[in-house]
Amino acid sequence: MTAKVVSVANMKGGVGKTTVAVALAHELAKGVGAKPGERVLLIDLDAQANASFWLSGDEALSELIERGKTVDGFLEDTIIFGKTPQLKDYVHQTTILSGADMKIFVIPSSPGLRIVEREMISFLSRRTRSLLEVERVVSELLVDQLEKLKADFDVIIFDSAPGISALTEAALRASDLVVVPTVPDFISNLGLEAFCKSVWWSNKDSPEERTPFVLANMVKTTEHHKSMLAEMREEAGAEDGAFKMFALEIPDMPWIEEATASVNGAGARAFAADASGLFAKLAAEVVEAMNAPAPPRRPRPEPLHRPEPGISPIVEATNGSAH
Ligand SMILES: Nc1ncnc2c1ncn2[C@@H]1O[C@H](COP(=O)(O)OP(=O)(O)OP(=O)(O)O)[C@@H](O)[C@H]1O
Ligand SMILES: [Mg+2]
Repeated sequence: MTAKVVSVANMKGGVGKTTVAVALAHELAKGVGAKPGERVLLIDLDAQANASFWLSGDEALSELIERGKTVDGFLEDTIIFGKTPQLKDYVHQTTILSGADMKIFVIPSSPGLRIVEREMISFLSRRTRSLLEVERVVSELLVDQLEKLKADFDVIIFDSAPGISALTEAALRASDLVVVPTVPDFISNLGLEAFCKSVWWSNKDSPEERTPFVLANMVKTTEHHKSMLAEMREEAGAEDGAFKMFALEIPDMPWIEEATASVNGAGARAFAADASGLFAKLAAEVVEAMNAPAPPRRPRPEPLHRPEPGISPIVEATNGSAH
């Protein structure tokens, strides 16, 4: 077993990253089409810890945070305290959305991740001088640990925080597929181009093109959404388009909001019962996309704000030009 790695990411907040990451974990664990359920691990890279909460519930999550069995606990032990823990020892089997014949695993995060990320950057930058080097260290650590986890799972899903942090960059770099939930409105689309470029830069050294896949979410029947969608589909269909798009569009549906608001009770059941089969359709498209052979790399896109750090720091760190 060698897991495929999927990142669910977007610089924009509140577009449905966590909803999609959790729903995907659930559908893949149930089994897509006639395929038996997969062993799915979700790694929460967001200090808001929504995915951790939705999958673990408050009691189990509090206990995991108490024991330091979180992504931030792992990073702090490794980078600040110089210990050598294994990320696989932080894997927790969830019970909220899992059943007897379906298992979902999670490496949770906690609000402490925000502090640990800052501590880590100031701690490492005092030693290595360069922020870009810091990001390379985090990336190499994650890639190394992922390699060890891949043998135990079929799919590893990252739920990313909004924005582009060192951790998100590392996850993008390690991913076979990047899923970008996007609301088809003007503001959400503003950041999409920049985000797609940063996905390109994060995989600059790979011989294969990893074009991100946009998922239209919270789609309304307004004229504005319709015209934005048409523009997005045109971009996705172009040979040198910055992204591809899933055929599925997820409508703005109140039950999704209700499900995530009360996930410890009715919410978990609502997710499980998705009568429309919408997330099952998404999972089928994701399986196809993550198993499709990647084409060779295209020429690099024009840099957006380079050489400022932040947009594509890994690139500079790896070519040794950073100070
Ligand atoms: N298709 C949809 N229809 C209606 N509500 C939705 C839909 N998708 C997501 N939501 C709701 O929108 C809110 C934001 O979703 P979610 O937390 O998944 O976004 P996010 O991108 O992960 O946010 P953040 O950037 O804060 O991590 C949640 O309340 C969720 O229930
Ligand atoms: Mg989220």
